Amino acid sequence: MQSKLIREKFLQFFIQKGHGHQPRVPIVGKEDPSLLFVNAGMNPFKDIILGNQPIATPRVVTVQPCLRVSGKHNDLEEVGVDTYHHTFFEMLGNWSFGDYFKEEAIAWAWELLTEVYQLPKERIYVTIFGGDQQDGLEQDNEAAAIWTKYLPATHILSCGKKDNFWEMGEQGPCGPSSEIHIDIRSDAEREALPAAQLVNKDHPQVIEIWNLVFMQYNRQASGKLVDLPHKHIDTGMGFERLAMVLQGKTSNYDTDIFTPLIAKIEEISGKAYDQNEANRPLPNSIAMRVIADHLRAVAFAIADGQAPGNVKAGYVIRRILRRAIRYGYSHLAIQTPFMHQLVPVLVAQMEGVYPNLTAQQHYIAQCIQAEETAFLKTLATGLQLFNQLDPSKIHQGVIDGRVAFELYDTYGFPLDLTLLMAKEKGLMIDEVGFQEALQEQKRRSQKDAAVSQGDWQLVNTAVQPRFVGYDQLVVTTSIVQWRTITNKQGTAYQLVLEATPFYPEGGGQVADAGIIRPLSDLSGDQAIEVSDVQKEHGLIVHTVQRLPADLKAPIEARVDPVKRTLATANHTATHLLQAALKQVIGDHVVQKGSLVTPSLLRFDFAHPTKLSVAQIEAVEAIVNQKVRENIACIEQRDVPLEAAKAMGAAALFGEKYGAAVRVITFDPAYSIELCGGTHLPFTGQIGFFKIIHETAIGSGIRRIEALTASSAHQFVTQQSTTLTSIAALLKQPKDLVQAVDKLVHEKKQLQKQLMAYQARAIEEATKALQLEQVGDVYLVVQAVELPHPHALQQIARHYKNQYKKIVILLATTFEQQAHLMLMVSERLEQYNAHEMMQSIAPLIGGKGGGQPFFATAKGNNPAGISAALKAASSMLTMPTA
Ligand code: ALA
Repeated sequence: MQSKLIREKFLQFFIQKGHGHQPRVPIVGKEDPSLLFVNAGMNPFKDIILGNQPIATPRVVTVQPCLRVSGKHNDLEEVGVDTYHHTFFEMLGNWSFGDYFKEEAIAWAWELLTEVYQLPKERIYVTIFGGDQQDGLEQDNEAAAIWTKYLPATHILSCGKKDNFWEMGEQGPCGPSSEIHIDIRSDAEREALPAAQLVNKDHPQVIEIWNLVFMQYNRQASGKLVDLPHKHIDTGMGFERLAMVLQGKTSNYDTDIFTPLIAKIEEISGKAYDQNEANRPLPNSIAMRVIADHLRAVAFAIADGQAPGNVKAGYVIRRILRRAIRYGYSHLAIQTPFMHQLVPVLVAQMEGVYPNLTAQQHYIAQCIQAEETAFLKTLATGLQLFNQLDPSKIHQGVIDGRVAFELYDTYGFPLDLTLLMAKEKGLMIDEVGFQEALQEQKRRSQKDAAVSQGDWQLVNTAVQPRFVGYDQLVVTTSIVQWRTITNKQGTAYQLVLEATPFYPEGGGQVADAGIIRPLSDLSGDQAIEVSDVQKEHGLIVHTVQRLPADLKAPIEARVDPVKRTLATANHTATHLLQAALKQVIGDHVVQKGSLVTPSLLRFDFAHPTKLSVAQIEAVEAIVNQKVRENIACIEQRDVPLEAAKAMGAAALFGEKYGAAVRVITFDPAYSIELCGGTHLPFTGQIGFFKIIHETAIGSGIRRIEALTASSAHQFVTQQSTTLTSIAALLKQPKDLVQAVDKLVHEKKQLQKQLMAYQARAIEEATKALQLEQVGDVYLVVQAVELPHPHALQQIARHYKNQYKKIVILLATTFEQQAHLMLMVSERLEQYNAHEMMQSIAPLIGGKGGGQPFFATAKGNNPAGISAALKAASSMLTMPTA
């Protein structure tokens, strides 16, 4: 069964069982501070599971790409070494939100596997939760009893918390689970050893394919389990593993999901992938698997808006990509960028399933290629560092562990690569030292990142929090819940309000600033500043440094109207800008990011080349025209997503949209965007729009920074003042640009002439020097007139190159300062330039010194030059001991 059909059959099956098919969300986590990437199909439903959002659709089915590379769920190290772990994989899942529970979840899983996919029943094993003392939980006999309807008792195994209690993270939704495993070994092997003994024992052919989680609890910060408002079903089946089973393979990499990628890697490297080595793979085969796996992870992340970068999620993506490049470099001997060539293969593979991958194929490949090129250079530098290692870092044939760590940390060398390189030189690495340095760094970064959240303390749960900030900037409201947060800066508090006017950071627009205060506080003395506002699982979370004395009392929430209006003008201008860019440079302008603050707006978009001055001017002209047209904002809330797309609304890759969206239109013929941000009622309020920068921020991505309203006005005023001053300095020329151009040209000419003159002067000074001879040593001790003291060295070098044994002491005066320079041939060990300079420097009122063969001095007494030269002369002509 082709993988595409496997996916479709899963969806069809659950749609028939009354489930709504929901689109997947981008894999880059947006609304969850505890996650960098989506790591399970249930992530987007966390708010519903926790009860923060009402249940709109009780039965849902999805195919959700996941990335397990950080935090609680991290499979990175397993990838490639085995045949069934991945960083990136697709999870097939069905959900019941407060609807059906264990009975149906188990019955349908069984029906799908044995009837639709026709897996042989005798090869199926299941596990159930065996209970846990610490959590005070009993064995899940209910699930076991349901399974006995389908399977003999020998196929139902009870396992501990590690395998059968699923938790999203350290905190959050969790519950006992029941896993479905399959035995794909040969008949002979099955005969010899029943699979019951191999379940959960890392056997590559007795593996878990589906996890049914019975969500019932919320794990608190304290570790305590609290019942969720409803019981839910959360299931996740590994799509790649299912394909392996259904396609009769023993490795995920042998399914049609991976074979095209592996074939392309074989073609590029000229090396063969050895399928038979599935369980004891050779380095070549491991490298190919790692590359194929990582390419998928990186390509999806980029498509979903997370390019490789230096911090957080971007850094994780960068490391994954580099890891793959290194495997290619050290095991497949591929030393030029190659991963980008795999992108078209992946895109063809996913055709029709992930349209945003197809749409961005070119951009993804470009991004990867740029990263590869840069990293291969770094790799080369690292190799050089290793090959020219300071001998003090090697003790008795063992290289300091910190060298290996530096290579790992700065240059991205895995330890195994460094070990290999060391071995080639007959050396070893202090691996303990490496591990120590690694642990130390981990401790440091954990300390930096540590943010711990207390549990929500409920004040009033009878209400559903709402956002009223599109219509109001001040409201009377109350606190629904609060918690503490602790990070490097100390302890702060977070609040959820019943109604809030505060815009939470999102869609590029920064959070509103403002205050909350007890309603009874007429003086305003008890106002508390709101320092941040973020969306989190359907809640709007306000950060404050202290809590109101009475948490139950009504409060006033007030947004800073000036900052809000400035940010709003910038947001509206960003829409006008995007539409203008499309008109001027083409429809391919895809937004790659934006930042809207009260002081400026920034817009990043995919475009290969720098914008010309004419293009920038054209964009500005269109935007300002639209400002003058004073177009009214048409705001539509709750438009069905499909209807909005049909209107031609510009949506963003990597943005999670609900079923109903907000559409912002400024003239239906000009700009329609899906947007949650705040907007001006009329474009005229922007006043004036001015682009101040246009730069590249990565391969294929341009950034425009612009100002509006009074900031734009101030910018232009300042520029014009500068121009007026320049014109005045140049005596009001008719054409200012021409005048400055002439000035620059003249300056260049003068510089050339000056250099020629100086060269002649130096030449003459050199000729005028007198050479003395003492024994077989030549001496030059003289004051010269030079255009610049730098010339002293030039002259001295000239002589030093000509005579084997020479001492040159030159002096010159420049800008009322005396300069001395002494150079001694390396063979003349009897003279010490440094010491001699130290002794004569006081004569010119200064200090001096240097090396045994080269020393200088500078002083403020040019009159002392002749005395200094004389003193030196007598030292030099004195017979040495
Ligand atoms: N949430 C469960 C998992 O990821 C289904 O395994």
